[in-house]
Amino acid sequence: MNTPSLPAKRDLLSLMDLQPEEIHALFARAAQLKAAQKAREVVHTLKGRTLAMIFEKPSTRTRVSFETGMYQLGGHALFLSSKDIQLGRGEPLSDSAQVLSRFVDGIMVRTFAHANLVTMAQYATVPVINGLSDDFHPCQILADVFTYQEHRGSIAGRKVAWVGDGNNVAHSWILAAARLDFHLVMATPADYGPNPQVVEWAQKEMAARAGQGSLTVLRHPREAVAGADLVTTDAWTSMGQEKECKRRARAFAHYCVDTALMREAQQDALFMHCLPAHRGEEVTSEVLDGPQSVVWDEAENRLHVQKAILEWLMG
Ligand code: CP
Ligand code: NVA
Repeated sequence: MNTPSLPAKRDLLSLMDLQPEEIHALFARAAQLKAAQKAREVVHTLKGRTLAMIFEKPSTRTRVSFETGMYQLGGHALFLSSKDIQLGRGEPLSDSAQVLSRFVDGIMVRTFAHANLVTMAQYATVPVINGLSDDFHPCQILADVFTYQEHRGSIAGRKVAWVGDGNNVAHSWILAAARLDFHLVMATPADYGPNPQVVEWAQKEMAARAGQGSLTVLRHPREAVAGADLVTTDAWTSMGQEKECKRRARAFAHYCVDTALMREAQQDALFMHCLPAHRGEEVTSEVLDGPQSVVWDEAENRLHVQKAILEWLMG
């Protein structure tokens, strides 16, 4: 008898791993899960499943949303600080991936080099999820777009302005613009633009899809924000770059999202920030706490969107 082959396991290392229709399906499921959670309905689609969560960097939102999400879906999450497991003492990623795959049903990793995630995914026989690397933060941007759509409807054809560092979060916005057909205009200081390889991938993808997606990289925040439907930013200094803090503060001095900058955007423009925010640096408290800011919804939606991701990969 021929045994039917099992479908290959899927990983979520960046938005390159997701097709637009899969993203839309995840959003639809996230909306259902959110409604169920608000109604206190029990949804135990991951009963008996375990997620290992390896953290090489600190986290509040990612840790709590994944751990709570697994619990709410009837499963269990293990918090594994790299300092406390053998990985921190030099056990190879490839060995750790194979061992963990014998115990758990999925592995979430927050790490430095994106190559670590690629290795993990290569050796793990269970799905691997990127909980942030130096290059990408896919779960964050899925929650961000979901939040935009909750407030304003489809993001397709809209203008999103990024102000600040061309970092992991910015890269994920770039990939999202290619996948979801919106216009992304970035303002970054000269030495802090996005990775040209990420830009090239997105531009090729946009051309192939001939959709409404576009990417423009500029220097001046006012130019980028002009007429935007959504303004977003992130820390000037990301985790692991602490030694560059002073140099970065000088380079980004004119890249603060304040009320005057928000006035350049559409009147009903939203403001987002993945958090944690550095009030008075990349954003003022007036904007962060102001009427256009949806940062708390954005943080909450990490939970709902990730539950949809967990079900999809581990269910
Ligand atoms: N936005 C985000 O990933 O937050 P944490 O670093 O707190 O997980
Ligand atoms: N760019 C930031 C995002 C934190 C969620 C960092 O990598 O530290």
